[in-house]
Formats: sequence, C-alpha cells, structure tokens
Amino acid sequence: MLTPAFIPALAGPADCLAVVQRTAESAVPGWWERVFQRLTNKEQGGEGEEREFYHESVLMEETIAALAPAEGKIFLDGTLGGGGHSERLLQAGASVVGLDRDRDALRYAGQRLASFGERFRVEQVNFSEMRSVVPTRSIDGVLLDLGVSSWQIDQAERGFSFQKDGPLDMRMNQSAGETAADLVNTRSAEELADIFFLYGEEKASRRIAAAIIREREEKEFTTTLELARCVEKTMGGRGRKHPATRVFQALRIAVNSELDSVTAGLVAAQEVLKPGGILAVITFHSLEDRLVKQFLKKRSVEFLDRPEWPEPRPNPELAWDLVVRKAIAAGATEITRNPRARSAKLRIAKKR
Ligand SMILES: C[S@@+](CC[C@H](N)C(=O)[O-])C[C@H]1O[C@@H](n2cnc3c(N)ncnc32)[C@H](O)[C@@H]1O
Repeated sequence: MLTPAFIPALAGPADCLAVVQRTAESAVPGWWERVFQRLTNKEQGGEGEEREFYHESVLMEETIAALAPAEGKIFLDGTLGGGGHSERLLQAGASVVGLDRDRDALRYAGQRLASFGERFRVEQVNFSEMRSVVPTRSIDGVLLDLGVSSWQIDQAERGFSFQKDGPLDMRMNQSAGETAADLVNTRSAEELADIFFLYGEEKASRRIAAAIIREREEKEFTTTLELARCVEKTMGGRGRKHPATRVFQALRIAVNSELDSVTAGLVAAQEVLKPGGILAVITFHSLEDRLVKQFLKKRSVEFLDRPEWPEPRPNPELAWDLVVRKAIAAGATEITRNPRARSAKLRIAKKR
C-alpha cells in the first residue's frame, strides 16, 4: 500500500512511478504494461525508437510453439497486421511472407520488420489467394489470425467502430469493393436481416432491418454513429454489450466476405504447405471457429462409415492430422492483459 509517509521518501517522480507500477503489478500481472501502452498510445520499436501502438498479438506463445520456427524454414503469415507474430518467426531465424488486405498494415509492419532484410517480404493480397504468391508445397507453416486489428478498430475513419464517429466504411482493403454504407443504403429489408442474422447471430435482425429501411427513406446512412444510434433506438436500453455490436460484426463480415475468404484460405493453405507443414488458425467468433473446426475434422478422419456400406472406406479428402483435438484458449493472465484474447481460439493441424 502507498502511504502518505512513504511518498516524500522517494527521490523523484520516476521513483513514484516505479512504486505505482510495482503495486499494480503485484495486484494484477501485466496491468502496468497495458495501461502504460494505452496511456501513451506508443510502443517501443527497438533501438530507442517509439512507434504508435498498433496491435497486441494474441496467443503468441502457443502459436509460436506450434509453428516451431527455425533457420531455413519459410512461413506464410496470411494476416500480417502489426507483424507481432511474424516478428517472432523472424527472430527465430525463419523467413516470412506476410500478406494483408490492408495497405496501412503492410506499411506499418513492413517498416517495423525491415531490418530482417530479404528474409521478410510483404504483399497486399487476400490470403484466399496465397497460391498466387507462393508455390505449391513450399511452406513450412501458415498462420491465419483472423478478423481486424486494434489499429483498424481504433481509426475512426476506417468505420469499424460503433463508438467512434467516422464514415460507414469497414473495408479492410480501402480501395476495393462496397462499403458498409453501400450495403445499408441499397440492400432490401430481407437481405439486411439475413446479413444481421447469419453473420451477427442477431435475433432482432428483422426489426433492425425494418428500422434501417424507415430511416434511410428520410436520409441515407453515411456515418458509424448514425447506424449505431438507429440500432440503439430500435433495441431500447443498453445491456452489457452495446446493442449495435452484432450488427457491426455482421456488416464487417459481409463487406469483406470474411467467411468465404476463410474457406478459400484453408483450401489454399492445404496446397501451399509442405507435407509435415503446420497450419495455425486463430478465430474470434463462433462462425469462424465452426468453419475451421469442420474443415479440419472432415479432412482428418481416416475412414468414413455409412450404414449402407458393408465396411468403412478410406476418406478421399484425408489431408491433415489434428495437432490438438480441442481449440486452445488464452489463459487468465493473457486475458487480464488483453481482454480481446477472451474470445480467441487457436486450432492447429499438420499437413499429411
Ligand atoms: C488480428 S489482425 C493480425 C494481427 C497480427 N497477427 C499481429 O500479431 O499483429 C488481422 C489482420 O488480418 C488482415 N486480414 C483479415 N482478413 C484477411 C484476408 N482475408 N486476407 C488478408 N488479410 C486479412 C486484417 O486486415 C488485419 O490487419
């Protein structure tokens, strides 16, 4: 405990800070690091240089242990983001091809990891198209850390957040495809309700879609807060979660065709991995996790059986061995440090 008598005994402000840090750390491990980073919105970039905070990687140790990077190995990071996972692969002596749809991520991570020279390269490519970037059976490990980064959510002008006013955009690739505003202003009530129900598992999907149609007859939606307020009005008061959480998740998935990319990305990973290569996928909601789980399950059983068959038959799609049967979740310490890790699940499989 800090006592008034104790504080004057300290030599200066730096000492006070150190005491606060020690006290907080003993109460909740990782607390200080997190608060300091958020307060200053900066992170150390090495060599005494400071960078803006971009993203805190989740399930780092578990992912790196699964991928087992080493000199001479080649990895494909399909979701480069701030480059946190890639950095660890590179530090272990491996080479990394980093993909992202978002040019901001490529610029940030490209600069951050430039010191690794020829062992690191970046491409603005959807991971579903990884076959256009690396040859078949050439890669030792593929990492997909799905969804959006903290940076993308924090930038109001990207339109991902229902808490910050910005254009209703939500595109990961800022220069291609329809925005969330395009969907909200042009789709029928049925189409919007389907998006909210299928991609947001929103039970009030029809009611929200009808409210959007009514409101857009007066004025088209252009900003995130206009949409968030419309959903809030329709749903009544706030619970633990903001009432627009599911609608924003659904629109983001629809705008970026995220589930289609995951399915195509898994098929592509199967082709680019060498035999014995590792696939590690981190998901953040049940829709993504279900896709990954079912994909791997279907392709990792050796024999198929049906009542009408006299005996089980070899599975023609067999291509993977599950490294872990159940998805790996973040531990309590990581969740305390980074609440975003709460919903993260890591699935790992080895290519046959
Ligand atoms: C959760 S962040 C990755 C964070 C990263 N692992 C790190 O440690 O900093 C997800 C990133 O993947 C990108 N992304 C999501 N889906 C993608 C796709 N289909 N193809 C390429 N990049 C994608 C997003 O733009 C975002 O930058």
